[in-house]
Amino acid sequence: MPSFKAAILGFGTVGEGVYRILQEKREEIRENTGFTVDVVTILVKDKTKKRKPISGVKITDNIRDILDDPEIDVVFEAIVGEEPAYTYLSDAIEKGCHIITANKKMFAKHGPALLKHAEFRNVQVGFEATTAGGVPVIRTVSNLLAGDRIKRIQGILNGTSNFILTKMREEGSPFKKALLDAQKNGFAEADPSDDVDGTDAFRKLMILSSLSFGQQPDWEDVPVVGIEHIQPIDVIDASKGDLRYRHVADIWIDDNDKLLGTVGPVLIGANHPLFSIDGVDNAIIIETEYLGQLTLVGPGAGMYPTGSAMVADLLHIIRQQEVVMVTN
Ligand code: HSE
Repeated sequence: MPSFKAAILGFGTVGEGVYRILQEKREEIRENTGFTVDVVTILVKDKTKKRKPISGVKITDNIRDILDDPEIDVVFEAIVGEEPAYTYLSDAIEKGCHIITANKKMFAKHGPALLKHAEFRNVQVGFEATTAGGVPVIRTVSNLLAGDRIKRIQGILNGTSNFILTKMREEGSPFKKALLDAQKNGFAEADPSDDVDGTDAFRKLMILSSLSFGQQPDWEDVPVVGIEHIQPIDVIDASKGDLRYRHVADIWIDDNDKLLGTVGPVLIGANHPLFSIDGVDNAIIIETEYLGQLTLVGPGAGMYPTGSAMVADLLHIIRQQEVVMVTN
């Protein structure tokens, strides 16, 4: 039986989600693809930290245990920040591994370079989990590009911000309490300032921009505002007027073919597709030349939604192997 040997970099909320899903779906994956997937090594920051033993898996704090292992076929990356993630993934590609990442901070900046490198080394890059958690926006946009032209993408791309705004409206929760709830649920970043100041949504917008328009605007030209100055009273007052605050990331091509973007809170009326998007859900409205308008909605953060996006990337890679095997 052919097998895929996997390593996971980082064992926080997302890394653990990937591991659990791969365990729970092991038989199903084997039946559907003919491949077994074995997680053989997990990279952690602190090896001495108390955690449940994971049988048959090497827990290491040394990246060489992964990069020097000739058996590893795919590296899942769920660590935070640009470095050392970018270097680890470049090295993994260089050694011929497929990579699957959830790291939007790293990918917004280095995604194009990683994709180029991977093409050169003839390996694949999965990055569905970098944007909108479990919502398959990366695959949708990639598919649309085959026969259409994307004109605008507008959406809620940060689950934590939407969760906080929802808690304020529905329960009158103070900002700090709502943020604490988001952290307890595993939605927020380790440093939640990226969630609430708009930076996380901005990075995801830049990933979508590269994919949809083949370019990103100059980062300084995109105004980025967060939700940290919005009070429950503002949200409640707005809702009395049948308006809702949404944190919206928007990118479009203007009439002069210039790429423009904005990120910030917007008051939305009841007829707008983003009006009813509550809690940790993300929503992405894609406008294209031929299809018209398409809206994707679903959980934008959390262990299982994000983990499942990474496992979906793996299945896509495995299916590509099958195609290669059939055509060879
Ligand atoms: N902190 C992020 C969010 C996690 O709340 O959307 C998913 O990228």
